[in-house]
Amino acid sequence: MDAIRKLVAQYFQLVDPPNLALPPGHVLVRPETQTALYERMFDESLTPLPPTNYRARVLKVILAQIEASIQNPDEDEILDDLMTCWANLIAQPKPSSLTSAQQLSHIKYTTPINPSDAALERTVITSESRGLILAGGTTGFRTWEAALHLGSFLSSPSGEELVRGKRVIELGAGTGFLSLLCARHLGVRGVIASDREITLIENMNRSAPLNRVADSEKPMPFHAALWEWGTPLEWTDDMQDFVENDHISFDIALGADLIYDTDIVPLLLSTVRDLFENYRVQHFIIAATIRNEDTFKTFLSGCGKQYIVTRFSLKGQEEVLTATDTHQFAVERIAFESTPSDQQTGFFHATNIPI
Ligand SMILES: C[S@@+](CC[C@H](N)C(=O)[O-])C[C@H]1O[C@@H](n2cnc3c(N)ncnc32)[C@H](O)[C@@H]1O
Repeated sequence: MDAIRKLVAQYFQLVDPPNLALPPGHVLVRPETQTALYERMFDESLTPLPPTNYRARVLKVILAQIEASIQNPDEDEILDDLMTCWANLIAQPKPSSLTSAQQLSHIKYTTPINPSDAALERTVITSESRGLILAGGTTGFRTWEAALHLGSFLSSPSGEELVRGKRVIELGAGTGFLSLLCARHLGVRGVIASDREITLIENMNRSAPLNRVADSEKPMPFHAALWEWGTPLEWTDDMQDFVENDHISFDIALGADLIYDTDIVPLLLSTVRDLFENYRVQHFIIAATIRNEDTFKTFLSGCGKQYIVTRFSLKGQEEVLTATDTHQFAVERIAFESTPSDQQTGFFHATNIPI
């Protein structure tokens, strides 16, 4: 992969500076590389512009690397534009680390490279704080690893096939990352990003216009709606696209990182059942980070009698497990593994905890 393209994609996702994949020193020192870095990362007219302190941290690492790679001071030098940008950045007042941790900013995520069309650049913009775990009683103000993993699958050819032309509902959507991906790039008929927090719904509604195709006349098929599991979905008139024969209907439901507490599992399962029984959903695609095996097992065993897990080993053998409960969902594991972090080309996420 083009090293600059990867660095640019990581930078707009606000990947931690120590984890950025910098091009090697002899490449960084070239004037054309420095010009490209300035034009694609540090020019102030770029949007969305990452927060000042993040830009300063990244530029500091890059400048140090260039300086260390200079072999011949008469020929190699640091680009003036980068030095001017550095001077401007360090002259800005520095917010406290608490303030910057809580501040929401626009994050631009780039899909992993599509092997059949490497030139295709698809991005999703959210508003969030990448390091924020809990704020205002919700964990939804950042996009979690499981969502980036599921987004990587959905943007692959076989994932896209599952949602293209479909009516989609997302549970616990948080920043709306997956729903925005579906609406902007995956050709869904419509998508509703639901969550129980009104502040998250408002936040998603502010992010949606940032993802509109500039010259498209068609409205983006995206809606954000309040839905606390166990209560009725809050319906608004602009969601008529989902009504068929007087019935609210979806084809596919999505969920990422919803299984982190055994207490909410029964509520989640009853909502999934509601989706199958009352909203005509055919498939629920869920991605979970397995932080605690027991919590995940509570979910799996709650899924029911017909719980079938299909695992594909490297030799192609299948392993099938069964368990018992009342929901009777057929559960199938989609054979899509996370790409190791250092080989990811987009939707960058940690893989040290299995997803
Ligand atoms: C860990 S976050 C995951 C957010 C997003 N899916 C992602 O992976 O980035 C869990 C989300 O589920 C939502 N949530 C938790 N309990 C819920 C409930 N009972 N009803 C609806 N949403 C809920 C939270 O508000 C939060 O946005």
